[in-house]
Amino acid sequence: CGIVAYIGPRDAVPILAEGLARLEYRGYDSAGLAVVGRGGELKVRKSKGRVHECTGDLPARFKGSPGIGHTRWATHGEPSDANAHPHVAGTVAVVHNGIIENAEELRAKLAADGAELLSDTDSEVLAHLIARSGAAELEEAVRQALTAVVGTYGIAVVDAARPDRIVLARNGSPVVLGIADREMYAASDVAALVGHTSQVVHLDDGELAVLTAGGYRTFTLDARATAHRPAEIEADAASYDRTGHDHFMAKEIHEQPAAVERALRGRLDARFHTAHLGGLNLDPREARAIRRVKVIGCGSAYYSGRIGAQLIEELARIPADAEPASEFRYRNPVVEPDTLYIAVSQSGETYDTLAAVQELRRKGGRVLGLVNVVGSAIARECDGGVYLHAGPEISVASTKTFTSTCVVFGLIALHLGRIRDLSPADGRRIADGLRALPGQIREILAQEDRIAELARKLSAAPGAFYVGRVRGYPVAREGAQKLKEIAYLHAEAYPASELKHGPLALVGPGLPTVAVLPDDDLLGKNQATLGEIRARRGPVIAVAHTAPDPRVTEDVVLVPRSEPELDPILLGVPLQLLAYHAALALGHDIDKPRNLAKSVTVE
Ligand code: G6P
Repeated sequence: CGIVAYIGPRDAVPILAEGLARLEYRGYDSAGLAVVGRGGELKVRKSKGRVHECTGDLPARFKGSPGIGHTRWATHGEPSDANAHPHVAGTVAVVHNGIIENAEELRAKLAADGAELLSDTDSEVLAHLIARSGAAELEEAVRQALTAVVGTYGIAVVDAARPDRIVLARNGSPVVLGIADREMYAASDVAALVGHTSQVVHLDDGELAVLTAGGYRTFTLDARATAHRPAEIEADAASYDRTGHDHFMAKEIHEQPAAVERALRGRLDARFHTAHLGGLNLDPREARAIRRVKVIGCGSAYYSGRIGAQLIEELARIPADAEPASEFRYRNPVVEPDTLYIAVSQSGETYDTLAAVQELRRKGGRVLGLVNVVGSAIARECDGGVYLHAGPEISVASTKTFTSTCVVFGLIALHLGRIRDLSPADGRRIADGLRALPGQIREILAQEDRIAELARKLSAAPGAFYVGRVRGYPVAREGAQKLKEIAYLHAEAYPASELKHGPLALVGPGLPTVAVLPDDDLLGKNQATLGEIRARRGPVIAVAHTAPDPRVTEDVVLVPRSEPELDPILLGVPLQLLAYHAALALGHDIDKPRNLAKSVTVE
């Protein structure tokens, strides 16, 4: 979900509407805003649907400041006008990200006390608790209300009776203050602040802030004052524009050569054929003592972790695997002192990943973060890490950050490998391979028309298998994920060798298979799998280094060869375009696929 807030001499509505549009990638089931009019009245507009449907036709009288806005990804209560935020009690309006765990209990108490609850949401209780506090100051009312609450939140509160301030609070769901001249902003994501200010303050968990037009003050839940030095934000407003592309996803796919260049910049050592990653905070002795690497992440971050684990195991010869953070955190894992844990997250906010990191740290595990958003919760929680520097990623379906993550894993594997048993010659081979990637990605992107043609064929099918073997298998999994996310076609990834152990029963003329077919030592085995599919007249689309036997398929995308260990990075790129063009052919809302959100900051 997204939160935006403004206080200052200007009318809040256009600022909130623009901010919400920028935050829409974080949730788009419903939207709403509340402003305090110049006459001290609270004006609220909220509705199910997209931001523009809510803010597009606001009457001229909808003026004033301060104001708060929200775009929602439904957790408790279906998307509806009543469940949209802000929630109002008396003169108080609240927007909330997160989940209030004791909401049922609080709702019952409030109802027994005569409160009229209008929605099915957990968030509404916050408005009532704040409105019922007897405290004179709004910030004190919010603080008292939050002491009754168990759960996660990022909130913004206005009160028409106390119109000179906005109160914000954070616990597990980000809140960033934006500092400007005689006006102040706040949001759940810097995306809503760029263009207005570059000076920001990230609230910590358990912190509140009160904003007035002239400044801000922060304090803890037990009312102790805190201090922050404002940070400078990196991104500029252009990073949040589609700049000539029809969709952010297309823009981000095409940004990959530049994103990979940024991930590599200054990190390759031409003398010792290794990688320098200052943020790892591992001295050679510690690096040699690692007995195992465990990667955790969710969604595409997890699949990139599978590729990463493989790179580390191959190049550094350390046993490595990946697991969804959402599973890891719930299964009471054995945390070993000589295991290196790596948490992957584009946003640095995914709650399941954050909770897994916190659990690991509590048990003394050493955790590195592979994160895109600088200063995000996961980045701050880890013992060290590497930033992707991929720039903002807006499309819900991850593309450039997936590729950049794999590249950074390549750097980590090279770094660990060169401390352990990777020879200088192999170090040079991998470093050269990494350097060549941006140009090779450009070659793949140049084949977009051909890939679009294949995607149109694919889009006519009811679904698809994606197959790959060993290095190719995680590539197939991410490829299938992309097709599901944006083309809404069922796609299942299988290790190529497993097809004959079950799913082959489904293969036939109506069900295509997308095959990841690198020219490595498993090519012969993969060709055999394609033969089995072909024998059942299953259509095949191959992503390969060399075209397979034309009797198997002529639907091939040829990908430049990298070093075999790095091949997965390039093989994934055509699969992004395949999903993109399939979704385009089907007329879907590519950047905002149904039911999904860019960052899932709830459990
Ligand atoms: C959400 C998104 C996915 C993403 C996952 C992890 O589910 O829809 O695209 O891969 O979160 O996000 P993260 O920010 O942690 O990489």
